[in-house]
Amino acid sequence: MDGNGRWATSRFLPRVAGHGKGVEAVRAAVEACAARGVEYLTLFAFSSENWRRPADEVSLLMRLFMVALEREVGKMHANGIRLKVVGDLSRFDDKLQQMIDNAERKTAGNTAMTVTVCANYGGRWDVMQAVQKMLAARAASGASALAGADTFSEDELAQYLAMAYAPEPDLFIRTGGEQRISNFLLWQLAYSELYFTDTYWPDFGADELDKAIASYQQRERRFGRTSAQLVEQAT
Ligand code: IPE
Ligand code: MG
Repeated sequence: MDGNGRWATSRFLPRVAGHGKGVEAVRAAVEACAARGVEYLTLFAFSSENWRRPADEVSLLMRLFMVALEREVGKMHANGIRLKVVGDLSRFDDKLQQMIDNAERKTAGNTAMTVTVCANYGGRWDVMQAVQKMLAARAASGASALAGADTFSEDELAQYLAMAYAPEPDLFIRTGGEQRISNFLLWQLAYSELYFTDTYWPDFGADELDKAIASYQQRERRFGRTSAQLVEQAT
């Protein structure tokens, strides 16, 4: 979700106004995805690198996050949405961690759609914490952590990724004109279709979502195979 700041400055508003609008766009995106039968929506809200922003902008983002949690969780729960927040949450203050925990517990049994908010998340952090957990699990099982290191598999590691509960994304959307991944789900994006739009996040509504989905529907997902093989498989 990129472009909140530029959305605001292009209207001679403070950047914080853009973040406020960005929260409204999140609500709209959740509703639009639910209406379209999307099962997993994952939002990159705050990266491990965003702490480098001015302190007042960081604290405003945290406040917005808390307010949004307070306001939206009840409605999400009523709509059967499961909420997950992934990232290194230890750096958030206790109150926010508590709210996240409550929201996750409350919505844990919901099955209509899973909304994941990535907060203080980084793709490299995710892979590293997964490696650490995998080695710890091996050590806990009595083996030396590195015994049989040549047997480590992608599947074994993937179980420890923060979003192990979700399939890999079919479609990745980045708003705001930049064409990069910026340390989002590095492992899981290996075969995702990438979609970039100049639209700033606060302006990204249902129409924009439909454009992204239409673009996705034009793609041929070969997963390394040839086009002819796919035709053969389908018949
Ligand atoms: C994205 O908008 C929102 C967050 C990182 C929270 P930006 O704040 O990055 O907006 P620009 O890139 O400055 O326009
Ligand atoms: Mg930005």
